[in-house]
Amino acid sequence: MSSLKKTPVLIMATAVAAVLSVSAAAAMGDKPPASADNGSSQVAPTPAMAGTFAKAPAPEIPPLAPLGEPPIPPDNPMSKAKIELGKLLFFDPRLGGDASVSCATCHDPEQGWSWAEDISRGYPGTVHWRSNQSIINSAYYSKLFWAGSVPSLEAQAPSAAKGGVAGNGENDIMEARLRLIPEYVKRFNEAFGEPWPTINNAWKAIAAFERTLVQRDTPLDKYLLGDSSALTEQQLRGKALYEGKARCLLCHNGALASNEKYYNIGVPRAERWLEDGLAQITFRFEYYAKGATEELYRKVKDDVGLYFRNKNKWDMGKFRVPSLRYIGYTEPYMRQGQFYTLEEVIDFYDRGGFDEDGNTTSYPNTKTPLITKLNLSDEEKEDLLAFLEAFTGEKIMMDKPKLPGYKPLFTLAELEAAQAAK
Ligand code: HEC
Ligand code: HEC
Repeated sequence: MSSLKKTPVLIMATAVAAVLSVSAAAAMGDKPPASADNGSSQVAPTPAMAGTFAKAPAPEIPPLAPLGEPPIPPDNPMSKAKIELGKLLFFDPRLGGDASVSCATCHDPEQGWSWAEDISRGYPGTVHWRSNQSIINSAYYSKLFWAGSVPSLEAQAPSAAKGGVAGNGENDIMEARLRLIPEYVKRFNEAFGEPWPTINNAWKAIAAFERTLVQRDTPLDKYLLGDSSALTEQQLRGKALYEGKARCLLCHNGALASNEKYYNIGVPRAERWLEDGLAQITFRFEYYAKGATEELYRKVKDDVGLYFRNKNKWDMGKFRVPSLRYIGYTEPYMRQGQFYTLEEVIDFYDRGGFDEDGNTTSYPNTKTPLITKLNLSDEEKEDLLAFLEAFTGEKIMMDKPKLPGYKPLFTLAELEAAQAAK
């Protein structure tokens, strides 16, 4: 994973002062000091903190870098048999409650391996509560989901297949189904050397397949690997803005274009949570399931994000910085798909974290000071947009594989013969 290693970068001289004054906060991911016990933003530099930062070595912001191979966990090595099995399982709706929804139903290759609506479709009869993330390059994240609630693809798959508004499956039933599919019995045996399919090995196979869904040959990667013609003049101007005046590099940095930290950048709440009954049901279900206090459950009308994980008030409304790779195919954007186009996203940042109606986060106390008005000209916005396009290469397509059928484990005649032989 050498290419993902973080190395210091020299920010453009013109931007250096502005960027460095806030990069210590960027490095902290807007975490308050351990003593903080209230909901106000603790990263606005207090005199005391400024002193600390002044003495600390110059903060390092990892530069954009070509994407290397994804990390492979030692307890789930890759093999051809496992990856091919994982592909079948990813497309197989029998890993779910009523055998109608597969991973690929919501993470549709045609729709950027995600779902092209603001809020993802849900298990039949429900809508989800968040926007669907693409699977492309998810292998590189150390924490998955918008609030980083699971630590690995192996742990993510069961929460997707079993989650009430996603797959809604039940372990024993899903495992029983796999065992009644002779082709799977054979393939699990080849991949894992065990006599019968187990549900845990199914998650491992899916994770191995997901680690093959990577995009590393974008115009940006080509440029960073030395092909100076891979970016246009306009994109190079956009890159300079990205790393300087527009401040994107503060958070969308390194090979993944994400520092994997958590911020409240000001994205306003999803109107659908106020208007759509079905969405409200899921919203309440999720709040209840995640142990929200009664006060929150009754009053809150937005996604508290990272707060769900640690119940710290100062983490309300913070979300994991998403990668910008493959975003050419994954609109709409943000945790509930608040913006449909990258132009809207750029305008949102340009206004300092406000939408066109002047709306911002429901939790202004935790909004990061790293997001400020940018004063980009129309031409600069176009340059930045052109550069954002360089994070995306060819569309990764895949046909739905033919899925193997069920067969009874034994016939009546076989059962009687086995009993007679006893
Ligand atoms: C009903 C739709 C639905 C189904 C079915 C579904 N997902 Fe998802 N998936 C989502 C949504 C929505 C999110 C974002 C949820 C969140 O962050 O809270 C997501 C997030 C993810 C992520 C995290 C990506 C990231 O950037 O952190 C991965 C990986 C993933 N899904 C894999 C799977 C796998 C594997 C399956 C099948 C076992 C699956 N999903 C089934 C809707 C679905
Ligand atoms: C302070 C850190 C920070 C900075 C600076 C920042 N972003 Fe983000 N970005 C985030 C976070 C956090 C999210 C997710 C927020 C949410 O959904 O509430 C996000 C989301 C996005 C998304 C949506 C991605 C998706 O998959 O939905 C795009 C596109 C984006 N940012 C582009 C930019 C650009 C362009 C800039 C510079 C103008 C920028 N960001 C500056 C933290 C940052």
